[in-house]
Amino acid sequence: MQPRSDVLAALRGRSVVLCVTGGISAYKAVEVCRRLVDAGAHVAPVLTDDAQQFVGATTFSALASEPARTSLFAGPEAIPHTRLGQGADLVVVAPATAKVIGKYAHGISDDLVTATLLATRAPVLVAPAMHTEMWEHPAVVDNLALLAARGVHVVPPESGRLAGGDVGAGRLAAPERIVAAAAEVLSRSGDLADLRVVVTAGGTREPIDPVRYIGNRSSGKMGYAIADAAAARGADVVLVTTVHRPVHPRVRVEAVVTADEMAAATLAAAESADVVVMAAAVADFRPKAAAPAKLKKADGVPEIVLEPTPDILRLLGERKRADQYLVGFAAETDDVQENAAAKLAAKRVDLMVGNDVRSEDSGFEVDTNRAVLLDADGGVEEFGLVTKVRLADLILDRVRTPHPRQGAPE
Ligand code: C5P
Repeated sequence: MQPRSDVLAALRGRSVVLCVTGGISAYKAVEVCRRLVDAGAHVAPVLTDDAQQFVGATTFSALASEPARTSLFAGPEAIPHTRLGQGADLVVVAPATAKVIGKYAHGISDDLVTATLLATRAPVLVAPAMHTEMWEHPAVVDNLALLAARGVHVVPPESGRLAGGDVGAGRLAAPERIVAAAAEVLSRSGDLADLRVVVTAGGTREPIDPVRYIGNRSSGKMGYAIADAAAARGADVVLVTTVHRPVHPRVRVEAVVTADEMAAATLAAAESADVVVMAAAVADFRPKAAAPAKLKKADGVPEIVLEPTPDILRLLGERKRADQYLVGFAAETDDVQENAAAKLAAKRVDLMVGNDVRSEDSGFEVDTNRAVLLDADGGVEEFGLVTKVRLADLILDRVRTPHPRQGAPE
């Protein structure tokens, strides 16, 4: 692990707008403010009216680098939200209530916090805090998913004691976690600018007849997380995908269904790519000939003859330019590391992400993963249970600073 001071170094001299919204944990935002200032950031606090029900603006004015702002209209500046939004290197919302998350997700800007959020192109980090029922409400879940797909970073709440003595998920993350996440976002901000990245996502579907297909359980969440993260970090991203989910607005989506279609789209896009990430679960076999009409049950059990699909990753490895960086995935149910290492060598990839698809919290469909990263020089990095969003950034960190012998893009 990096020493703490190194982690926080990315905050030094950076302009952070700290938005505080109205939850009981607004008092903890005071500590977030102090820690950001201590780390060398220039902090401009903004409080909603509701936040001021819990903590006074004077407290933030005393601790921050500028007086706290509370209104679109009452301060000395005519249009504070554009000045704040344009000048920020990072906007942090802590705590972020269900209300501000909802307004931000739907483009409603009716106070200084929400207007600043819409007026900025800087990365945004939200630290939600609310009662468990609200945190788990489908409206909040969907709004956060929408924001995450647009590249908004989320520090998930913790479980613990909540207002009123209840216990459950929804307690604001500890101030030191929020500040560390802010530093991490800043250290990655724009670090993939100018890189052309191709990502594949989802499982391919190989037709048996016009109705049925051979498919797999891949949800595409890992590929989408990588595409979103790469776009948020400044890359020019093409996503070749079989599934459709909200995605960062700067990602270009190419919809495909079969392994053949994915091969054609990916190999074409890869020609001008610096990085290719094969996160898709491509079928290994397909029916040799799809029936032109629906197979009838009355005709008895059909005999379906299979043939191999193109191994896209292998083809990419064969055609790889010296300055191209290729990432593969190995979904395994046993001996994850050994199997991933064998595929890494066989397919000439630079980085193989071995993931365990046996346990319920890892692999297909879920939001979390357990992965081991293997590089072509024998480097091994193992991660315990992490969210796919976080794993996406960890994979892209390797793309940014590959092993020197790889000769991949800086
Ligand atoms: O050998 P295996 O299929 O397990 O390798 C998995 C890796 O190869 C993944 O990155 C997957 O996207 C890729 N793959 C591919 N074309 C196939 C099968 C797998 O690109 N036909």
